[in-house]
Amino acid sequence: MSYVEVENITKRFDDVVAVDDVSFTADKGEFVSLLGPSGCGKTTTLRMIAGLEMPSEGTIRIDGEDVTDRPAYEREIGMVFQHYALFPHKTVGENIGFPLKMRGVPEAERRERVADVLERVRLPDVADRSPEDLSGGQQQRVALARALVFEPDVLLMDEPLSALDRVLREQMRVEVERIQREFGITTIYVTHDQAEAFAMSDRVAVLDDGHLSQQGRPLDIYENPDSEFVANFIGQSSQLSGQVSSGDGAPVLATDSGMTFELPQSTASTPGDRLSVFLRAEKLNVSRTPTDAVNEFPAEITTTNYLGEKTQFFCRLDDGTEVIVAKHGFTDVENFEPGDVVYVSVPPENLVVARDPGTSKAQANSGDFTA
Ligand SMILES: Nc1ncnc2c1ncn2[C@@H]1O[C@H](COP(=O)(O)OP(=O)(O)OP(=O)(O)O)[C@@H](O)[C@H]1O
Ligand SMILES: [Mg+2]
Repeated sequence: MSYVEVENITKRFDDVVAVDDVSFTADKGEFVSLLGPSGCGKTTTLRMIAGLEMPSEGTIRIDGEDVTDRPAYEREIGMVFQHYALFPHKTVGENIGFPLKMRGVPEAERRERVADVLERVRLPDVADRSPEDLSGGQQQRVALARALVFEPDVLLMDEPLSALDRVLREQMRVEVERIQREFGITTIYVTHDQAEAFAMSDRVAVLDDGHLSQQGRPLDIYENPDSEFVANFIGQSSQLSGQVSSGDGAPVLATDSGMTFELPQSTASTPGDRLSVFLRAEKLNVSRTPTDAVNEFPAEITTTNYLGEKTQFFCRLDDGTEVIVAKHGFTDVENFEPGDVVYVSVPPENLVVARDPGTSKAQANSGDFTA
């Protein structure tokens, strides 16, 4: 039995189905992220776990107890929001002490526990200051301290880092994870940022338009997405769809655009099946001359982007497909220019294969290269 069990929850707002039959779990002490594009139902799901929104259908259990109909104030849940939601006219200490005050904890004990939690989020000595005098990152630590001070059963966070700049956001990822591990608190974290979800989570649940697409470890989700949606949403890749035929040994995909790919030996398919392959940018090779590799295709470079830690080559294959090849630490950039003919190859075992024909939304997403 998992510590948090979300079972077949649905939430309808009039005729909008914000969350549709979603189930997932979090074990005790586990860090689980809900990851998905804007409007997919992440916040609504989190609010139902908090008791701020009642599900239209389904059950939520915490530590084996059905809490579905319990109001928010009877659930021991700490919550952190995108905008820190601190009281501006109270001091940091009063902000953090507030949940304790609500629970009738005497002042002396409150002060002690506030000091202790401030120590643990590495912000000693700010209890008497106004939250407005603190930086964004510091304010978010205060919000986290306020959510943790009463030792809740579960910590919920809704895009808590998205108001911070990139450098601070990356530092805070490490910090939030450290604090979560130290408190050992079961955490459900909402984000639309894959890197953030992957960096911190034990497991990730991917949501698509109100549905749960997949829950698994970051590695499983990245390497073995079980739908076109997940394969497109996670990572940077180009998609090619087609029909399986049997090659000499390994299965082969004949794409709708007229190309042929040898598939990984492990592909579970029979001739005639429709599949998509995803060419992940970092799993492709690019060379000046043919190398006789399997799945090697001539291509024309359309753009090169030198990004410092990596270089991106935008390449057009003969069938018109645009693929991106990403190379880390590449120093031979000047020698590759738009218009050059190169050879792009992908070993069969580097192909990500997914079955889910007809998911038009996944197709629409394939142009969204955010890695
Ligand atoms: N109170 C409400 N009344 C009507 N529709 C709502 C309400 N709250 C959410 N929705 C709708 O439900 C869907 C899911 O919204 P939700 O806020 O859960 O998405 P989200 O994944 O958190 O998005 P974002 O990443 O933009 O925060 C959206 O279509 C939204 O417009
Ligand atoms: Mg949201």
